[in-house]
Amino acid sequence: MPDKSHAVPGAPAPEPPTLEEPTTPREPLEPKADQTGPDVRTPSGAVANEDQAVNAQQGEWLTTSVGARLRDTDHSLKAGERGPTLLQDHHLREKITHFDHERIPERVVHARGAAAHGVFTGYGTAAEVTCAAFLDKDVQTPVFTRFSTVLGSRGSADTVRDTRGFATKFYTAEGIFDLVGNNIPVFFIQDGIKFPDIIHAGKPHPDREIPQAQSAHDTFWDFVSLHTEAQAHTMWNMSDRGIPRSFRMMEGFGIHTFRMINAAGETSLVKFHWKPRLGVHAQTWEEAQLTCGFDPDFHRRDLADAIEAGAYPEWELGIQVFPDEPDQMFAGIDLLDPTKIVPEELAPVQPIGLLQLNRNPSNYFAETEQVAFHPGNLVRGIDVTDDALLQARLFSYIDTQLTRLGGPNFNQIPINRPHAPVNDMLRDGFHQDAVHRGVAPYRPNSLDGGCPFHASGADDRAFVEAPVEVAAAPKTRAQAASFDDHFSQVRLFWRSMTPIEQDHIVLAYSFELGKCYEQTIKERQLQCLANIDAELCSRVAANLGLPAPAASESVPDADPSPALSMVGESWPVDGRVIGVVTCPDCPQDEVAAIRQAIFDAGMVPLLIGPTGGQLPSGIPLQRSFDTARSIEYDAVLLAGGIAAHADDPRVTLLVQEVFRQAKAIGAWGDGDAALTAAAVDAAAPGVVVGDSGEQVLTELAGLLAKHRAWERVG
Ligand code: HEM
Repeated sequence: MPDKSHAVPGAPAPEPPTLEEPTTPREPLEPKADQTGPDVRTPSGAVANEDQAVNAQQGEWLTTSVGARLRDTDHSLKAGERGPTLLQDHHLREKITHFDHERIPERVVHARGAAAHGVFTGYGTAAEVTCAAFLDKDVQTPVFTRFSTVLGSRGSADTVRDTRGFATKFYTAEGIFDLVGNNIPVFFIQDGIKFPDIIHAGKPHPDREIPQAQSAHDTFWDFVSLHTEAQAHTMWNMSDRGIPRSFRMMEGFGIHTFRMINAAGETSLVKFHWKPRLGVHAQTWEEAQLTCGFDPDFHRRDLADAIEAGAYPEWELGIQVFPDEPDQMFAGIDLLDPTKIVPEELAPVQPIGLLQLNRNPSNYFAETEQVAFHPGNLVRGIDVTDDALLQARLFSYIDTQLTRLGGPNFNQIPINRPHAPVNDMLRDGFHQDAVHRGVAPYRPNSLDGGCPFHASGADDRAFVEAPVEVAAAPKTRAQAASFDDHFSQVRLFWRSMTPIEQDHIVLAYSFELGKCYEQTIKERQLQCLANIDAELCSRVAANLGLPAPAASESVPDADPSPALSMVGESWPVDGRVIGVVTCPDCPQDEVAAIRQAIFDAGMVPLLIGPTGGQLPSGIPLQRSFDTARSIEYDAVLLAGGIAAHADDPRVTLLVQEVFRQAKAIGAWGDGDAALTAAAVDAAAPGVVVGDSGEQVLTELAGLLAKHRAWERVG
């Protein structure tokens, strides 16, 4: 963990700015301690013997893009002080022209995201099923992980109800492996040919371009109620998984079944799972909505701040393993149907490695925006299956980069460069960065000495497509009957939830359908809910003021999977944010001690005072009563000595919101006066009062480990 001398994360620059504009020439500043760019590689994957700074701006002088030093960039070249601008002003033209072309198309989906660098360490436990070298014991592989929402534009809010992307690029010694997954283990559709349909339905209406980044509108519910295979994913979205507390507190899933091949050439079918060390946690719906306005960058800030503070997020990578039988079924579940899970109770997730994210990007555009994932980036030992959703993805991702990244050489952009030698015979094209040698970019050749050669056999570690049988079958646009059950796993999910989680699901359906304009669409979706579960349907129908229909299909029951619930365990509290309400009257030594104790527990204290500035002892205040809002804090402490401000309406609002959100609240000394003023019962679950701040903090951290005091609102 870097020594930050307990600074609260978030400073924009590596050193504090001076009040006056600096005029003494100096070299560009180093990035902040938590930031780096991608490893410096050549376009062909070799280590470049250069510092990262060589790729960034250099020298102390302002120059043109070709290195001429400039005397002035604030005034265009004119015919006289008040005259027209001269066409010969090459600096003006270069500056404006480049600016005019700064934007590239945003991703057609998953446009809004945040990313971090890290390292993946193999456990060696996957050797029985795969020969992928990066999974060998203690092998460390650099990675870049990008989290995203699906529907919103690049500038939309982070905390909308939506699926989250969880895409990891492994720069392995055997080429790049991209695991391009989501935080939800099932998908909306069973065949990729329908991807444009579900996305067109979820995106804003094409006439008014509203609503932004959310599914609570008619076109979305029109599609999913007609297209019932989408009901499984929709139920997951309506659950608390759709509004994560943090990227650090989400599971990730490869979703599709993949095929692994071991050193003996034997194959197994697998599903990938990422398990977060901090547990799986959500915001409440009220919090998610408030956050959209108060801090639309909440998730990206949380990720960057946690890394800057040294609270490096970690996930274990695990696999569920199934025998590679010709029917590709397991326990009656079609493994090629991406709308189905295999419950962990039937096939446990076996850990195979650890991901740690530990460096923030140093430039959003160069890294997070230009990273290009592709499910077809596979390494030896991992192959695809015939899942029709995956098959379409194998085409789509490369294709979309041609537009988004402006040509076929996107893998030469620094963040996309592999760490394995590249000799690909692909040539020329826009933005060609490699200076290829030789005269024979074709095979076979003799003029370049025959190079490059085919890798043959295991010794050369060539990528192997598993030689599985493809059944002789007529061409068809149909799909197997094993894909037809659209409801039993949705019921399984609903019945695996605890009562509080079910309450949240009911409210989510009620909100989303309540925002639809057309009653027919609400009624059609209620029919789907009736097929899932009668109680769910009647509760949502009651909220909508509509009759609950009877089930129209007989749906087989499946055993619940307790592993799907997010409630009931304790988790580490690293990087959790504690708001401490203070004022100049508080005993300063107590405030200093509690601040230090929060840091020592690996959490982040944000001190809140009546105004900005600092306390009399010099302790900086990060928030004022005007700028503090409940959504920023995982728990709130009310310091002894705040009695004079206890009934300030802004403090009351904070306490009441935090209470409603079932978060832990602590008060020491006369801090409990703020509870009284907010009409909060000091004996309620999740509320701690006491004389000693540190004792209260210890109990608070225990509550925080469970994420929420749900019994308060349940
Ligand atoms: C299991 C189903 C799917 C999952 C888990 C998934 C996941 C993702 C993720 C995580 C991203 C964002 C990558 C990033 O951070 O840059 C993404 C982008 C994208 N996905 Fe998918 N996706 C799925 C299905 C599909 C399908 C079926 C298609 C098309 C047939 C598709 C087309 C795209 C496209 C075009 C992008 C934008 C890529 C870019 O511009 O860089 N996806 N997807």
